[in-house]
Amino acid sequence: MTADANADSTQSIFTTAVVTISDSRSRGERPDVSGPAVSELLEKSGFRVVKKQAVQDDSMQIQNALVHLALEVRFIVTTGGTGIAERDVTPEATEAICERVIDGVAERMRVESYKKTPFAPLSRGVCGVRGKTLILNLPGSPSGAVESLEAVLELVPHALHLLDGKTEHPSR
Ligand code: MTE
Repeated sequence: MTADANADSTQSIFTTAVVTISDSRSRGERPDVSGPAVSELLEKSGFRVVKKQAVQDDSMQIQNALVHLALEVRFIVTTGGTGIAERDVTPEATEAICERVIDGVAERMRVESYKKTPFAPLSRGVCGVRGKTLILNLPGSPSGAVESLEAVLELVPHALHLLDGKTEHPSR
């Protein structure tokens, strides 16, 4: 199914935030390509992106941003800081403010990404839940972010419905 075919009124009720996590991009030293690419895919797929922001690779700044955004939106997508460099702290910061982690979503991103690059396992991105908000970490490169999001986007509406207490399962 194409992203456009996915766009319907179901997704558009889900407010979404995109957070770019990068020291250089949050300081405006390098243009943010991944955040806009992720926002474009989300909007094409019918999600309502209401917030876009950039934060540094700093655990407290990331946690603060996620905690505040989780009060405002149903779906938060981060891009960057999922690798193994010293400043890559996005997964730990996300887990610190999530009540539950959904391992299967991150596993699916890595499985699908591995079909495109052997470096896919180097992303430690997680997917978690805080309240009724779903939080998803994507890698920082534009292609990595978009490919990873494409791998799991179809799961998101049902996940958000489950968090809303709508527990009937979709027909296959
Ligand atoms: N996944 C996809 N689909 N495409 C990519 O190009 N890059 C990988 C990995 N996952 C990549 C990907 C690489 S090289 C790294 S180091 C990790 O994501 C972590 O990236 P990050 O630290 O920018 O988040």
